[in-house]
Amino acid sequence: MKYEQHNPLPIPKSGPYQSIQSTMDSVFDWQYELRRQNLMALYEKGKALSWNASDLDWSIDVDIERMTRERREAGVGGMLNQVLNPPRQLDDDELLQMNLHMNAWMLSQFLHGEQGALLASAKVVQQVPWEEAKFYAANQVADEARHVEVYHRYLTEKLGLSYEVNPHLGTLLDDILSDSRWDLTYLGMQIMVEGLALAAFGMQKLLMPEEPLIQDITTRIMADESRHVAFGVLSLEGLYTTELTSSELAEREEFIIEATHLMRDRLLMHQVYERLGWPVDEWVAWATNTPFMRGFRQMLFSKIVPNLKRLGLLTPRVRAEYEKLDLLRYEHLRDSVEDPEVAPPEELVQLLMGALAPQAEQAEQAASG
Ligand SMILES: [Fe+2]
Ligand SMILES: [Fe+2]
Repeated sequence: MKYEQHNPLPIPKSGPYQSIQSTMDSVFDWQYELRRQNLMALYEKGKALSWNASDLDWSIDVDIERMTRERREAGVGGMLNQVLNPPRQLDDDELLQMNLHMNAWMLSQFLHGEQGALLASAKVVQQVPWEEAKFYAANQVADEARHVEVYHRYLTEKLGLSYEVNPHLGTLLDDILSDSRWDLTYLGMQIMVEGLALAAFGMQKLLMPEEPLIQDITTRIMADESRHVAFGVLSLEGLYTTELTSSELAEREEFIIEATHLMRDRLLMHQVYERLGWPVDEWVAWATNTPFMRGFRQMLFSKIVPNLKRLGLLTPRVRAEYEKLDLLRYEHLRDSVEDPEVAPPEELVQLLMGALAPQAEQAEQAASG
C-alpha cells in the first residue's frame, strides 16, 4: 500500500532501532493433536474475518480543526473547560491544540502498542507449546501488522502529527518481550496491554463521533483485538489455578501489579504538555487528580479486571492493590470469553456524553426538572 507520509514519526533519542535481549525456548509440538477446539474455532474465525487495510476509504478528509471549530460553535468549548477543569481556563485556540495533540498522542501510543503486539505475538508463535495456539498466534501476527499499517498511515497521511513511544509503555513492552516465560508474554500482551487497548479504542470511538475514517478503523481493530484478548484468556485458562507453585504465582502477581502501575502512569500524557510548552508539573498534577482524567484511566481497566478474575489471578494480593486503585468495581463485568463484543462500560459513555453533548444533557435536565 502506497501512501504519502506528510510528517514522519519522531525518532527516539536512542536511535531508529532498538534491540531487546531475551533468552527463550522455541518449542516444536510433534504431536499435532489440535485438541483445543476453542482455539481451533478462534483460528477459523480469525482467518475468515481478516480484512485489507487498503479497502478502507482513505479519500476521507480528516480535519480535526474543522471538527473542533464546529464543536465550539455548538458551545462545547466552555463546557469542556468545566468538565476537564484544567489548571487554568483555556481559550478556543488552546482547546484546539489540546484536542489535536491529545488525539495524536493517543493514536501514536496505539501505533507503538501495535508494534509491540506484532513482536509479542511472533514470540508466542515460537514459545507456546501447543500447535493450535501457534496457529492462532500466527494469525494474530498478520492482524498486528495490519494494525501498525493502518495507524501509521492515519498518523502520517491524515493527522501529520505524532509522538514517540511513551516511556512507561516502552518499559512495559520491554518487560513483555524480554521475559523468557511464555505465559508472561500472553499475560502482559493479551491480557494487560490488549485488554487496556480494547477499552481505549472504545473511548476513541466515543471521542471522535464525527470522524468516519477513525470510526471505521477502530471498529475493525476492536473486532480483531477482542479475539486476541479471548485468545489470551482461553490459552491461560486453568494454568494459574492448577499448575503453578506458590512462588511462581507470586511472580505473576508481581508482574500484574507492576504492569498496572506502568499502564496507569503512561496515561498522564506528560509528552503533550512538553510539546505544547505548558508547565509539565502543573499539568501532570492536573491529569493525576482531576475527576475526568481519573475516571478515564480507571475505566481502561474495565476489561482487564474480569479477565484476571476468570484466570484466577484476582488473588488476595492483587485484590489488595486493585482495591487501593479502586479497580475492583469492574470485577463483576463480563469477561472476554463471555462477551467477545466489546462495549465500553456505561459509566464511560455517560462521562463522555456529558463532556461532548452538554447542551443535550442540560436540556434534558431542564425538561425533567
Ligand atoms: Fe492490534
Ligand atoms: Fe492485538
